[in-house]
Amino acid sequence: MLRSVILAAADSPRLGRLVSSASLSKNVASRFVAGDDVDAALAAARELADDGLSITLGHLASGTATAEDARTTRDEYVLLLGRLRAAGLTPAAEVSVKLSALGQRLDERLAYENALAVCAAAAEAGTSVTLDAEDHTTTDSRLEILSDLRKEYPSTGAVLQAYLRRTEGDCRELAHAGSRVRLCKGAYVEPESVAFTDALDIDKSFVRCLNILMSGEGYPMVATHDPRLIAIAEDRARWFDRSAEEYEFQMLYRMRTEEQARLAASGNIVRVYLPYGTEWYGYLLRRLAERPSTVLRFGRGIPKT
Ligand code: FDA
Repeated sequence: MLRSVILAAADSPRLGRLVSSASLSKNVASRFVAGDDVDAALAAARELADDGLSITLGHLASGTATAEDARTTRDEYVLLLGRLRAAGLTPAAEVSVKLSALGQRLDERLAYENALAVCAAAAEAGTSVTLDAEDHTTTDSRLEILSDLRKEYPSTGAVLQAYLRRTEGDCRELAHAGSRVRLCKGAYVEPESVAFTDALDIDKSFVRCLNILMSGEGYPMVATHDPRLIAIAEDRARWFDRSAEEYEFQMLYRMRTEEQARLAASGNIVRVYLPYGTEWYGYLLRRLAERPSTVLRFGRGIPKT
């Protein structure tokens, strides 16, 4: 219940403006977000790379109401990729992109063209792009755009959400050679008709999907902080005889940093999702929905106006 309320708030621009103006909220956000701009993102990425971690950077864009907004996001990523390359941070760093920020809800063709430009900039910089997963109404369109992008840029990564009932099938489709697939639980409020809502059912689906990806020919990217699922992933990697270069773990910036270090020290590739930008409100609320104890501290930062 609390999770649903917080996630609904995560999609409210009005509440976003209110919360973003509270200084305490900003302090909390600064724990989970690299900073406002590319310079801050690069500095945080450098620290992670120095610790032997790989990175995927995500720009936190505001709601994309116009084609111009979408092109601004595209240009931000092109700039970021150029700066990553100049700083020698590629290929350790790649980028994660939300198609909605590139105009998917306005015009799918526009989103595809903007994503193509970001993929071209990534290729130029010697790295790749992963398309973040959003709510289930966008999944078909996202996977179609992914398939088109992969014709020219085969390393473009997919994200699949274990809570969606369809995802086992999508894993089978995408478990082919060269296919990079991030598997996560899923972070949106979804109806029972399309998604598992019980935590145990989601975990079981995660394991079934993991089995498909680990036994397949693609490159699984296991995105979770859940200790049981991490242990199962380590086990499956051994079972399916995958070397440490043939899959990776992914976690969010400043979440379970000791576990990130442990996995990296034992020879695993660990990629940290590093968000930056001024529109941190929705991202922060999604993270707090996952960790309610932090929400209570965060709540004290919301002004009473
Ligand atoms: P979950 O939150 O279910 O926690 C399970 C257990 O893990 C907890 O009970 C606790 O024991 C432990 N745990 C979790 N977090 C902890 C912490 N911070 N400290 C200590 N213990 C902790 N979603 C989406 O819809 N689209 C996307 O594109 C992405 N992308 C993405 C990238 C990456 C790199 C990650 C890690 C996650 C995403 N997600 C996402 C979010 C994802 O779907 C999911 O909502 C969160 O990762 C939370 O689920 P977990 O599997 O991490 O554990």
